[in-house]
Amino acid sequence: MITLRRLIKDDLPRLRQVWKDNWGDEFIVAHGVIYHPDPLDGFIAFDGHEWVGEITYDFSENGCEIVTLDSVREGQGLGTKLINGVVDEARKKNCRRVFLITTNDNLNALGFYQKRGFEMVRINRGAVNESRKIKPSIPMIGMNNIPLRDEIELEILLKV
Ligand SMILES: CC(C)(COP(=O)(O)OP(=O)(O)OC[C@H]1O[C@@H](n2cnc3c(N)ncnc32)[C@H](O)[C@@H]1OP(=O)(O)O)[C@@H](O)C(=O)NCCC(=O)NCCS
Repeated sequence: MITLRRLIKDDLPRLRQVWKDNWGDEFIVAHGVIYHPDPLDGFIAFDGHEWVGEITYDFSENGCEIVTLDSVREGQGLGTKLINGVVDEARKKNCRRVFLITTNDNLNALGFYQKRGFEMVRINRGAVNESRKIKPSIPMIGMNNIPLRDEIELEILLKV
């Protein structure tokens, strides 16, 4: 059975490694901001003792931003569970919206989020090219063999 628990300090070394493996380094760059795992909130998904997913998020005056989402076992409801965990958390905090940045190459994520009520609200052309100056490990060619260059912001508005 899959269970979620809140991210704790002891998870940070493991989380850094997951980011490194999946996102090329121990930090994330989105809309010109550098995110390290340490100050972020998050949930870890477990199957027994096995770590099978993670989501991190950050509350600011702009709303609740999902910073990373990774599922190790795709197509089993894990990503949905992690997203729902954050949306519930945002509701509890009377937050007006949950948003995230994905990139133009990530066709799977664009479909995944839209099917879960998120809408595309902004495209920032060339933003990834700017991020690459801070984080050279961002590849030129991304998922699906697509040149990786733009940020796409998606949001879901919550009734408060
Ligand atoms: C995007 C991502 C997080 C989705 O995670 P996931 O665990 O596959 O998500 P889910 O299993 O909840 O949903 C995926 C699909 O599986 C289907 N599914 C869920 N549970 C299922 C089950 N028990 N049996 C069969 N299919 C199932 C869902 O219907 C969904 O399909 P849909 O989007 O067409 O509705 C995952 O693909 C991932 O980690 N990608 C790489 C990292 C990434 O891109 N992160 C997002 C960055 S912005």
